[in-house]
Amino acid sequence: MPLQRIITRAARLVLSVTVLAALFVAGARAQPTERAPDTMEARLLACAPCHGKVGEGTSNDYFPRLAGKPAGYLYNQLVAFHEGRRRYPPMNYLLEFLPDTYLHKMAEYYAEQRPPLPPRPIPIVSKEVLARGQSIVTHGDPQRGVPACAGCHGPSFTGMEPAIPGLVGLNARYISAQLGAWRYGTRTAAAPDCMQIVAGLLTEADVTAVAAYLSSLPIPADPAPVPQGTLAMPLACGSEPH
Ligand code: HEC
Ligand code: HEC
Repeated sequence: MPLQRIITRAARLVLSVTVLAALFVAGARAQPTERAPDTMEARLLACAPCHGKVGEGTSNDYFPRLAGKPAGYLYNQLVAFHEGRRRYPPMNYLLEFLPDTYLHKMAEYYAEQRPPLPPRPIPIVSKEVLARGQSIVTHGDPQRGVPACAGCHGPSFTGMEPAIPGLVGLNARYISAQLGAWRYGTRTAAAPDCMQIVAGLLTEADVTAVAAYLSSLPIPADPAPVPQGTLAMPLACGSEPH
């Protein structure tokens, strides 16, 4: 029927005009002057659901806080995820195609942030377990050759420049998972991998105790990592120049 054909033709014409108009608008949007501002905050939107807007952490009991950790440490982790040496599929996928300069900038951005700690799950353990955790992190266990965590992570566990992370603001589940990853060889750092040695000296009960104690600590008044060379370090670490 001719009338139907006319209607079909008209509809096609409207459709193609609409498509052209849409393409034109899209093209106009793609002009550099119309693009959303390319700030570091905009680039890090993809990271915010898991790490918080400025890396402060979230109420999730696993995702780690990034804010305030030394830039060298954060950069080393981004490279490890990028190269697949440290595995967590969403992170490996997000970082796969990012260039090195970009990894540096993201690390520097998070290292400079000083946000407060968001509300988090509190580990439910006995006073004895917390006391055991405190004793290991501050004094180690000399009889079994376990070095004090504070010897490298700092007296208030804020880390040391340029590549030792702070341990405050992390959840117990994350801390014990990382110690487990070193014990089982799924997380490695530059040789000599001091954390592999340290984690290998800890029992399951030690891991539970240190993870519970560290995760119960507030962010100290001065959250900055201590300057490079401040701590004597009981073992050499490949990631930390000395
Ligand atoms: C789906 C959630 C998710 C997203 C999105 C995400 N991360 Fe992560 N990120 C994690 C988890 C979980 C870990 C810890 C993985 C592990 O080792 O078990 C992690 C670890 C890290 C670490 C190492 C932290 C440390 O203390 O060792 C850095 C740095 C990091 N992420 C940066 C980023 C950046 C930058 C982005 C955005 C480009 C991003 N993440 C996006 C969940 C996420
Ligand atoms: C000899 C120095 C040294 C000692 C002692 C030490 N650490 Fe570490 N630790 C490091 C270094 C270096 C790293 C970073 C390794 C890397 O680049 O992945 C690290 C990383 C970690 C991480 C990963 C943090 C994160 O954000 O993913 C945890 C957890 C940790 N250490 C816990 C401990 C505990 C608990 C103790 C005490 C039982 C301890 N460390 C003792 C040097 C040390």
